[in-house]
Amino acid sequence: MSPQPVTSMLTGTDGEDYAELPDDTVRLALIVAMASNRCIGMDNMLPWRLPADLQYFKRITSGKAIVMGRTTYDSLGRPLPNRTNIVITRNHAWEGPIGTRVVHSLEAAVALAEAVAVCNAQDEALIIGGAEIYAQALPLVSRMYITEVETEVDGDAFFPVWNQAEWQEIGRERHHDEATGLDYSFVVYDRL
Ligand SMILES: NC(=O)c1ccc[n+]([C@@H]2O[C@H](COP(=O)([O-])OP(=O)(O)OC[C@H]3O[C@@H](n4cnc5c(N)ncnc54)[C@H](OP(=O)(O)O)[C@@H]3O)[C@@H](O)[C@H]2O)c1
Repeated sequence: MSPQPVTSMLTGTDGEDYAELPDDTVRLALIVAMASNRCIGMDNMLPWRLPADLQYFKRITSGKAIVMGRTTYDSLGRPLPNRTNIVITRNHAWEGPIGTRVVHSLEAAVALAEAVAVCNAQDEALIIGGAEIYAQALPLVSRMYITEVETEVDGDAFFPVWNQAEWQEIGRERHHDEATGLDYSFVVYDRL
């Protein structure tokens, strides 16, 4: 029998599709909140408390595979619900709790995240930090969700330098946080 296109296998006899064909191209994106000086962390914590940014993070990542370094996992302290938590560590003895998937290289993390996305009919998998993982993953991602926080912070974890000329801004929403007085924007960049 000659090979059939997958679309015809998903089409009912009456010609109506009974399954949405998931596009097997999965976008690898990253999501980060950073200060104007690219600071993203201090003492293994976020440098600010912005509840609306946490809600935004939840909205963008829910249902998807998320990839994080072991240090970021430690700062979260638990797997995030309703997401496939993939943790990268060089330590083969490290075991995450139930609900985490442990891998030992970025390549393995990305392959697993993309496979999970295909299985779950998701078009996107997300790198969620921290600094070491962003630096390695930046060349691989085609979208960045950046919360640009309009402040300079004297922290110890930084987003890598990136070339704005290689990216197109496709969305920007500016907000103000009453409690901290901080202005911040949800910005989305696609690689040109
Ligand atoms: N503002 C934000 O949006 C945001 C988001 C996430 C995190 N953060 C902040 O970022 C900081 C943490 O960043 P970080 O750079 O210290 O740590 P990280 O990137 O979260 O994790 C680093 C760890 O990941 C593992 N790792 C890294 N590359 C690897 C590779 N190629 N193969 C195998 N394992 C690898 C190693 O774990 P082992 O040591 O176990 O081998 C390494 O120590 C914290 O302050 C956190 O709050 C901020």
